[in-house]
Amino acid sequence: MVAGNAVQTTSLGEEIGRRINELGAISEEVGKLTRIYLSKELREAADLILGWMREAGMSAHLDAIGNVCGRYEGERPGAPCLMLGSHYDTVRDAGKWDGPLGVITAIACVADLNRRGKRLPFAIEVVGFADEEGVRFASTLLGSRAVTGTFDESVLNTRDRDGVSMRDALIRFGLDPDHIGAAARARGELLAYLELHIEQGPVLEAQNLPVGIVTAIAGATRLAARLTGMAGHAGTVPMALRRDALAGTAECIGAIEQFCRTDASGLVGTVGYIHAKPGATNVIPGEVSFTIDLRAPTDMHRKRAVADIVRQIEAIAKRRQLVLQLDVTHENRTAPCAPWLKEQIAKAIGAEGFSVFELPSGAGHDGMAMIDIADVGMIFVRCRGGISHHPDEHVELADADTGARVLLRVIENFRPRDGQLSPQVTG
Ligand code: GLV
Ligand code: MN
Ligand code: MN
Repeated sequence: MVAGNAVQTTSLGEEIGRRINELGAISEEVGKLTRIYLSKELREAADLILGWMREAGMSAHLDAIGNVCGRYEGERPGAPCLMLGSHYDTVRDAGKWDGPLGVITAIACVADLNRRGKRLPFAIEVVGFADEEGVRFASTLLGSRAVTGTFDESVLNTRDRDGVSMRDALIRFGLDPDHIGAAARARGELLAYLELHIEQGPVLEAQNLPVGIVTAIAGATRLAARLTGMAGHAGTVPMALRRDALAGTAECIGAIEQFCRTDASGLVGTVGYIHAKPGATNVIPGEVSFTIDLRAPTDMHRKRAVADIVRQIEAIAKRRQLVLQLDVTHENRTAPCAPWLKEQIAKAIGAEGFSVFELPSGAGHDGMAMIDIADVGMIFVRCRGGISHHPDEHVELADADTGARVLLRVIENFRPRDGQLSPQVTG
């Protein structure tokens, strides 16, 4: 086995790099990549990806929630599929690779099969999920939740920062909020779900390896908090008489950081969004909204941490005479990757001449939802400096190429579990 310092790039990596740049240019902000769910830029990106899918020999459509879906038939039309996917929405001021790498690489693999006229005993489907990041409507994994039939209809009434409900945003996008169920797929239609994704951390780089196998995707809890106090004059209200919602929030943020820092288990907590009202230099803040994102290596650990942190926030609010509203906006259990898929990925990595290395995913992925209808496997591709959710996010083209070659090998040598393909299909 060799360590992974590939210096050459080949055509798959170069094509992937070109498309990453093309997709990365579709943004709602000048000079920054921001492409959030149901925006007009997401629609533009969808059309671009649908075109790439058709070019690669797939039939392609936009589904009822905005996912882009391509299908490459197997030797016999209508066979169950090996589903490949990732997401094509982004965070704000994002990197270009988080999500699109998996979608573009999957399409590149199908295009390669198509060029060779190769059909397999099963179909291949590629899905670009429309909302994995959950930037716009607080809830996340909306695209894959619709595919698994576990979409929570109450999210349709949530509103974005501009007051637009998800229901209205779907209509503006050209979709029917009353027909989201049409995106759902049945367990029997899928042989497995495989996702290739940028690692978003520094582990593979430290191992000097271009690719790795994911063992499990860590669970996460997201909360939306609102503290309400009393707005007032910054010059006249004595400090002891204030009910300052922003000072209370600052204390909560400090408590969350302190709690996570002193936990040795790998617990991580982030307050990534905060909005203070009325928002003027000379006015005591009367109301503050903020979000909390908590993740831990085990579900038990995460749940205990959530309960402890909630208790601390409640105590802070009570002591400061602030009214607290706290809602869980997203909760996902840890999703283990299937051993039989890890084995097939390991064979492909070995066949490409690299050491097999396993690592957990601290980031969330659509596999967390897809596990409800299919076994899940994930391939990570090394990124530079472990940087992600940041414009400096970067993957070397040689590594993108290695990832594509590994995925292609997995596809071509894919063996479903016993009994997944009926005899007349495998015939
Ligand atoms: C997705 O990128 C997440 O882990 O928040
Ligand atoms: Mn991602
Ligand atoms: Mn992300």
